[in-house]
Amino acid sequence: MIQNVGCHLRRGLASVFSSRTSRKSIPRAEEEDTMVGGEGYRNPTEVQMSQLVLPCHTNQRGELSIGQLLKWIDTTACLSAEKHAGCPCVTASMDDIYFEHTISVGQVVNIKAKVNRAFNSSMEVGIQVTSEDLCSEKQWSVCKALATFVAHRELSKVKLKQVIPRTEEEKTEHGVAAERRRMRLVYADTIKDLLAHCAIQDDVGSRDCSHMVPAEKTRVESVELVLPPHANHQGNTFGGQIMAWMENVATIAASRLCRGHPTLKAIEMFHFRGPSQVGDRLVLKAIVNNAFKHSMEVGVCVEAYRQEAESHRRHINSAFMTFVVLGPDDQPLKLPWIKPQPGEGERRYREASARKKIRLDRKYIVSCKQAEVPLSVPWDPSNQVYLSYNNVSSLKMLVAKDNWVLSSESGQVCLYTLEEDKFFSFHMEMVVQVDAAQAFILLSDLRRRPEWDKHYRNVELVQQVDEDDAIYHVISPALGGDTKPRDFVILASRRKPCDNGDPYVIALRSVTLPTHRETPEYQRGETLCSGFCLWREGDQLTKVSYYSQAIPGLLNYVTTNVAGLSSEFYTTFKACEHFLLDNRNDLAPSLQTL
Ligand code: COA
Ligand code: ADP
Repeated sequence: MIQNVGCHLRRGLASVFSSRTSRKSIPRAEEEDTMVGGEGYRNPTEVQMSQLVLPCHTNQRGELSIGQLLKWIDTTACLSAEKHAGCPCVTASMDDIYFEHTISVGQVVNIKAKVNRAFNSSMEVGIQVTSEDLCSEKQWSVCKALATFVAHRELSKVKLKQVIPRTEEEKTEHGVAAERRRMRLVYADTIKDLLAHCAIQDDVGSRDCSHMVPAEKTRVESVELVLPPHANHQGNTFGGQIMAWMENVATIAASRLCRGHPTLKAIEMFHFRGPSQVGDRLVLKAIVNNAFKHSMEVGVCVEAYRQEAESHRRHINSAFMTFVVLGPDDQPLKLPWIKPQPGEGERRYREASARKKIRLDRKYIVSCKQAEVPLSVPWDPSNQVYLSYNNVSSLKMLVAKDNWVLSSESGQVCLYTLEEDKFFSFHMEMVVQVDAAQAFILLSDLRRRPEWDKHYRNVELVQQVDEDDAIYHVISPALGGDTKPRDFVILASRRKPCDNGDPYVIALRSVTLPTHRETPEYQRGETLCSGFCLWREGDQLTKVSYYSQAIPGLLNYVTTNVAGLSSEFYTTFKACEHFLLDNRNDLAPSLQTL
């Protein structure tokens, strides 16, 4: 069941499946449940805010200041989180934000927030910001943001109720939110690790000193007193207010480098490490860490102290912001080089370069839709966390699609298909009398796959990356008119359920490794997105689903199966069932760890 990808299958199979109905539509009672005033479905946690941008909200360029926007974003998101939690919530973190458009005075900002998923005491809130020109009726996307809020009750730990996703988009976000949370919680360590391993050349010595601005000249220190309007009714400082103050000092530092009016383009993911209250003095410090040709990184650090204990400072937050300076044609202008201070300054200078590389790598892998990620993504330490994320989230997105159609059924195995503009996918499903955790162990070790899948002739474990990710070299026999056997280098990423109702996931995608390059002996095959989802249906009962996307290299083989002209898919999947049943008691002791 390895799939080969080369070109895209068009909608040629539409007529075969068009008479079948969708498997995952919203049940009628639920649909009526969520109708609001006859307007159709609306997410129960959704909150909207619309603001007219007035001169008092703008910066020196006459555009909405990002600090003000961050306050509105944080308030809208917080109200959505509190709507779900039913109690006060605080901002724990904000993922990277890329600002696509500036907003002018007189325009309207529309902010929409909804809870994508609730975990234990925390929730991921998705926020969309658009701007609207009232005269021309034009609308622009300004940015998307993802924030984590934590619910607080005075005396007890909060256990939030689950979010039940209804629409395809909600199901996708719900599935991927668990994967994003995983990445968020290791973010600080990942970045620290990457910075330690990222060999960035220090090119300061080779630059023309006469065109350099000493970093010291951009240093800013500013104090703020937290007053009641800056806090919620429990006296906790609003995260948005702190972000706005951070943006303010960062903009001053950036202006001191460029001697102009900089525009904030991106904010790196950050975490509010500890709370702040009314009466706190906040000290905000900023400096330009590095200037690249057309952009600069400004770092900001926030500490809090009480008047009575000035020497006892609490670290509240650190953030890294990227600014550009736009010329009259809105194109970024060239910036002067920065001369870092010896010691700490030089370290931050190097780390800013490393962060830039990491940011670009990550942006590329994480933001690419599954159809756009090139197949042969090289595996290396700087992208492994993001490739693993991409691997699992691509499969979860495929699983959450609404338009799967039951195509055929044989021996209690169901075959579903999905036709999209560029891709054709299928999945097979059966219920097996085996414990889900046991099936997960058996299926996630690809070395055992040749025991049931004749398409896997030989499997070598190349690298056990961590407990949940491994890279395998797979050899597959020649199929469907091929002259040579195929080989694949596959990243297998496995995930246990995040909460009840979540499946066990085993996601598979191709990567390239310098140690396993293509050889004349084999035809190199690639798989873009495939894998297993295992749902616990009861004690010793598991729904096993195998998903696979895009098949062009083996199109004939797959369509022959899908059209019912061959039963090889069924035979293989039945062999999988026998393998699971034969080995269902094998690894019983290790189940305790799952
Ligand atoms: N990003 C997202 N969520 C995070 C996180 C991060 N960097 N760090 C912790 N969390 C989540 C945890 O996953 C956990 O979620 P769960 O209950 O759903 O599993 C939740 O926060 C609590 O984690 P816990 O380990 O119990 O607490 P902690 O000591 O890590 O504290 C905060 C986490 C967010 C509560 C704490 O850092 C805090 O109070 N920060 C200040 C929040 C605030 O006041 N913000 C407003 C501006 S100051
Ligand atoms: P790091 O020094 O590892 O970057 P910190 O949390 O100490 O992490 O600081 C975050 C950023 O805040 C720094 O990169 C720097 O840009 C800025 N910063 C920290 N301390 C100062 C300071 N004393 N003056 C000006 N800016 C500072």
